Amino acid sequence: MPSLTELYDAYVDTFRGADGKLPPMMELKRIHTAHVVDNAKLIAAGEGFDAETARACEAAALLHDTGRYEQLKRYNTFRDSDSVDHAVFSHDIVVEKGWLDGDPQREAILTAVLVHNRRDVPDGLDPLTEAAVHAVRDADKLDIFRVLEDQIATTDWRHNCEAFWNLPTQAAPNPAVVEAIRAGRPVDYQNIKTLADFVLIQVGWMRSGLRYATSRRLCAERGHLAFRRNFLHELTEDPVVDELCDFQISACVGV
Ligand SMILES: [Fe+2]
Repeated sequence: MPSLTELYDAYVDTFRGADGKLPPMMELKRIHTAHVVDNAKLIAAGEGFDAETARACEAAALLHDTGRYEQLKRYNTFRDSDSVDHAVFSHDIVVEKGWLDGDPQREAILTAVLVHNRRDVPDGLDPLTEAAVHAVRDADKLDIFRVLEDQIATTDWRHNCEAFWNLPTQAAPNPAVVEAIRAGRPVDYQNIKTLADFVLIQVGWMRSGLRYATSRRLCAERGHLAFRRNFLHELTEDPVVDELCDFQISACVGV
């Protein structure tokens, strides 16, 4: 019986070209997934989850973006609003492939895949599902922090801001975004008007979007907040940057 990782890897292999390589955008998702799995393992260990719960977190992390490959192949975009909700797509592919058939943690893992990108997590989840859901959401955010830093380091973002939705780079944040972050509310994506808004969303996640203390510790250790504060100073002189970035991640509470 092949392991979940073997099933997943064999599926990803079907998207490889004759040269054995994945298209570059798919390769980024494959690497992202590996990091999300590693983050989920660190969270499970740090939070002292039992072996079953840790396994559900890891499995959900592995499968959370399964649909990204088919999404890109079919629609040539990762923008859900222009194609499909990639979490629903991932969930449906995992069900259709039968990878979790007979798995005692099937429902918890599938739910975590399904809701990983939702603004709000449904109420009333059982403890196993709740742990898998929040571990994947935290693990995903932690890797999105890495991806942003990687994109800034490797793209000519001042002249070609394609990686950031072609947003204006030298511009102050939208007051609506600032207000949401101050209030600890999720940012409405329609309000993202500048690159500073895009970066501030992640500051908002650090302030009030990470569930587990282990996730907040990893975020602090990796210097993600300091990076954003410095980078925001390159984009705008608005003093609100310091106001919003002036906090200790370790002092934040879980959501
Ligand atoms: Fe995702």
